[in-house]
Amino acid sequence: MDNWNELKEQCLNCRKCGLCETRTNVVFGVGNPNAEVMFIGEGPGENEDLQGEPFVGRGGKLLDKMLYSVDLSREENIYIANIVKCRPPKNRDPKPEEQVACTDWLRNQYKLINPKIIVCLGRIASAKIIKPDIKITKEHGLFFKKGEVLMMPMLHPAAVLRDPRKRPEAFRDFQILREKIKEICTD
Ligand code: URA
Repeated sequence: MDNWNELKEQCLNCRKCGLCETRTNVVFGVGNPNAEVMFIGEGPGENEDLQGEPFVGRGGKLLDKMLYSVDLSREENIYIANIVKCRPPKNRDPKPEEQVACTDWLRNQYKLINPKIIVCLGRIASAKIIKPDIKITKEHGLFFKKGEVLMMPMLHPAAVLRDPRKRPEAFRDFQILREKIKEICTD
């Protein structure tokens, strides 16, 4: 996938917004670019910024556990990227202009991956990708169809860590996702 490597190379040198001044690493994404399921998070935190990979902190460990519970892995069945590729200082929400500056990287990743299902982790990603007025606590686990693609908002793993009572709902959403994959994906 020549275009993929080119896109990654360009993204790793991005200076389109102020986040480039404070980042350690651009966090391009991880997983299988040929996957039929794409996960989209909000943006890198401290650990991700240091390691250059999405979801490697405590939230990432929980994400891996939830994936494992339905026999999915980041290496094989999914690709994971973020709305913004550079860490917002002190993990604040990415500003609208930072999200806009980063849009083309994600759009191009999406075009090359061409997934059948997009999972948005948390409110910021779900609002940007699915609909601005998403109510994540009510609408997580539902599917929204946009063109040929199914989009599913999920609770952000960090929110589940903050409130462990959300764990059963969060794990249940992965089962719903698994059923949909069986129904419409080839792997
Ligand atoms: N939270 C996110 O939304 N993305 C990451 O990569 C890490 C934490």
